[in-house]
Amino acid sequence: MITDPGVNEYINSLSADLPEYLDRLEVYAEEHHVPIIRKEAQNLLCFLIREKKPSNILEIGTAIGFSAQLMASVSDAHVTTIEKVEMRLKEARKNIAQSPVGDRITLVEGDALKVLEDFKGPFDFVFLDAAKGQYLNFLPHIMRLMEKGALLVTDNVLQEGSLAGSKFAVERRDRTIHMRMREFLYHITHTDELDTVILPVGDGMALSRKL
Ligand SMILES: C[S@@+](CC[C@H](N)C(=O)[O-])C[C@H]1O[C@@H](n2cnc3c(N)ncnc32)[C@H](O)[C@@H]1O
Repeated sequence: MITDPGVNEYINSLSADLPEYLDRLEVYAEEHHVPIIRKEAQNLLCFLIREKKPSNILEIGTAIGFSAQLMASVSDAHVTTIEKVEMRLKEARKNIAQSPVGDRITLVEGDALKVLEDFKGPFDFVFLDAAKGQYLNFLPHIMRLMEKGALLVTDNVLQEGSLAGSKFAVERRDRTIHMRMREFLYHITHTDELDTVILPVGDGMALSRKL
């Protein structure tokens, strides 16, 4: 938690109710320890989608299909979502097949680094929510696939806030992920190709517009 837990709780208590099928999935994720987008980040993501009204959304990191359905539920967009772990894919296939918005979701199976090579795009909205240490590797693909003015939303960029602290304060195994995430954040905030803002919402979200 980056912000005060009480503040977060209060903000979340004001959130609109989710449709029942998403509510059920959110509970399932919690009970089965599936990492899905946090409530406060959901609200920001939905707000941005309602505002931008994208027609073609790309998501990297499906898990069980919660955020893909969430994004489809607040737009008329087609959502293409990529997942590589079979255990997650099994659930995602089932959830998307049963979903009222499932006809606007395409689940692509495989490692995003590989499958993105064959994608043509263009996409006007990208939600990046996969392996945190790989974000920088995804970026050339994302840049190629985003049209001008497209929005890139990247989740979990502040790693519970620990990213801002000393590298010696984190476990050795997390240092590499932190170093890569810092490189990613430096890049998206300094390239001429993107206009980026980083927000301490949820686990940290970066919003970037392609210039
Ligand atoms: C945080 S979860 C996604 C949660 C989902 N976006 C949601 O909020 O409902 C991250 C997912 O990305 C997947 N993932 C990680 N690296 C990947 C890659 N290179 N290609 C495809 N999927 C990947 C993981 O297996 C995991 O299920």
